[in-house]
Amino acid sequence: SRGFELQRRAGNFSKAAALERKAIRATAVEAEVEQWTADKLIDASEEFKAKALIKSREQYDEMYKRSVEDPDGFWSDIASEFHWEQKWDSSKPASSWNLDVRKGPIYVEWFKGGKTNIAYNAVDRHVKAGRGGETAILWEGNDVGRDRKLTFQQLQDEVCQVANYLRSIGVKKGDSVTIYMPMLAELPVTMLACMRIGAVHSVVFAGFSADSLAGRMMDSKPRVVLTCSAVRRGNKVIGLKEIVDKAADICSKQGFDVERVLVYDNENAISREKTPWKDGRDEWWQDRIPSFETESPVEWVDAEDPSFMLYTSGSTGKPKGVLHTTGGYMLGAATSFKYIFDYRPGDVYWCTADCGWITGHTYLTYGPLLNGASIVVFEGVPTYPDAGRCWEIVDKYQVTLFYTAPTAIRALQKSGNSFVTKYSRKSLRVLGSVGEPINPNAWRWYYEVVGDSRCPIVDTWWQTETGSILITPLPGAWPQKPGSATLPFFGVQPAVVDENGREQDGPCSGYLCMKAPPISLMRTLYGDQERYETAYFAPFKGFYFSGDGCRRDEDGYYWLTGRVDDVINVSGHRIGTAEVESALVSHSMCAEAAVVGYDHEIKGQGIYAFVTLMEGVDYSDDLRRQLVTTVRSEIGAFAAPDVIHWAPGLPKTRSGKIMRRILRKIAANQLDELGDTSTLAEPAVVDQLIELRGK
Ligand code: WT7
Repeated sequence: SRGFELQRRAGNFSKAAALERKAIRATAVEAEVEQWTADKLIDASEEFKAKALIKSREQYDEMYKRSVEDPDGFWSDIASEFHWEQKWDSSKPASSWNLDVRKGPIYVEWFKGGKTNIAYNAVDRHVKAGRGGETAILWEGNDVGRDRKLTFQQLQDEVCQVANYLRSIGVKKGDSVTIYMPMLAELPVTMLACMRIGAVHSVVFAGFSADSLAGRMMDSKPRVVLTCSAVRRGNKVIGLKEIVDKAADICSKQGFDVERVLVYDNENAISREKTPWKDGRDEWWQDRIPSFETESPVEWVDAEDPSFMLYTSGSTGKPKGVLHTTGGYMLGAATSFKYIFDYRPGDVYWCTADCGWITGHTYLTYGPLLNGASIVVFEGVPTYPDAGRCWEIVDKYQVTLFYTAPTAIRALQKSGNSFVTKYSRKSLRVLGSVGEPINPNAWRWYYEVVGDSRCPIVDTWWQTETGSILITPLPGAWPQKPGSATLPFFGVQPAVVDENGREQDGPCSGYLCMKAPPISLMRTLYGDQERYETAYFAPFKGFYFSGDGCRRDEDGYYWLTGRVDDVINVSGHRIGTAEVESALVSHSMCAEAAVVGYDHEIKGQGIYAFVTLMEGVDYSDDLRRQLVTTVRSEIGAFAAPDVIHWAPGLPKTRSGKIMRRILRKIAANQLDELGDTSTLAEPAVVDQLIELRGK
């Protein structure tokens, strides 16, 4: 009955509509692929393979086999390469889990009882091994010419100072800390400082609005917020401290007072005098941090103690606080980084993601630093001062491994090849893609123009929830098919299930699930175990459900075809349609809103909003602007609708359910494919909507 209850609560997940969407997308991608790869697979050069960590499919097959047949042994061997202050009890199994709601609560545990610390392993361990003089962080400012370098020793010193500060204001193991910072070197420093003392960081992307920040703060009740006065991104100045103040006011009204705010003084963007201030609560980073000791004891935490939380959008309700723990996350992050980017000492690695997203946690900060890699931390945007900035940075730091999102690739592709070919890019060895399906055309440009047909591309599929990459090429091990994330990483056991939850064999398509927990899988949703089970484990019994549709081809390669729930992926950022709808209806003149995704040339998906106004209110461009502004201020600029479509009425079933299938077709301008509209309560609204398209 527990299982039944969860199933009942599983929400508005419509399997039929989802499958239909998936099928459309899969066909489009395949048509594009066929044009280009009809007779060739893209393989790494013999030279690349000879030096690669995993040199062949056979080598992978053997390791993969062990990783799924003897996961405890496989991961225990890897775990032994890290520092454990106290080893886990090796007389017991290393892991224990239940993914089946019918068998009781969902849980996943790895190396429980072992004591370690992620920050220690990512920083101190390298210093102890005599690598303190090696470069840890190469910080590149928004404006050309502003940069800064930190060695592992310097990183350790700064992390300790911030850790000591946090302890001095009473932050203890298990306490939550909100970080709302731009891409300063101090951002990863702060994350590591939290981990050092066992505090649980919640990084909120500095593009989120005061309302969004407040929502996350109300949920996790941080002891302290760390932020920055303001930041310059491209030509814009964003007053972050002002936003934090607004968020703190919102929290105050809801009964939660932030005790302390530490503000990094970014005089490059705003002066101290102009920064809004609250005496007694706020203090300047520069006035406090340097006075602390550069040594600080490590808090040894249990492998299953929380390491961080990160909010992400679901198909319904408020954002979910995905909670990761320590041991499994550390091993997943480190191991995937090492093999997927074919890391070797001396590599300079650059991930363009912001630390505010999971990619910035796992593949900007923890994964690379756990391997002792030098990382580039970039404050700016890829198109400032011009579209050549990325390749300028690549040459400047001799970047060898580069990781970005398809949306950035498409935007740069559109700017023209001359911005790329102006720079050498000879240092590049592996190129990565993440966040959304990469269309073969963009894949090809990335491969041929950016990588000079020399660098393998790793199209990596994973999620905030999985903590690390699950489906991916290993760059020297097997040939690529542009558009496919190819095969499962070590320990990953995908299952493609049909709408009845039955696992399918061989070539097939359906819902992408996992039949065993990836080692770095989130352990719960912060404060909401029930939603954790409902959203991820109730839809298909016995499996973790990703929310994505996929196809597996005759070679066993996986093709991700996009979300099958009401989540849209805009420029690699996940947004729940319900969140945008609720932002729209918060405007006093908006009666109802329905949001769908549509194919967008650069962003992958764009946001298309159908809006019904209050009785008597007239359509106007001004109102349209107001609605967009409302979404910006409720969620953040990246969630602003691309299209507002006036809707006198919305297509609803007789029971009042909005038929999004029809709205998606209208948004895509596939008006001859509207399908059966006879079950609508008022079929005439469809004609009204078509009439108002583009108006
Ligand atoms: C969703 C997760 C974790 C990476 C950053 C986004 C989509 C991610 C791919 C890929 C096709 C991808 C999926 C997934 N996605 N990478 N290589 N190919 N789709 O993390 O915000 O948690 O979003 O992004 O739909 O479910 P996220």
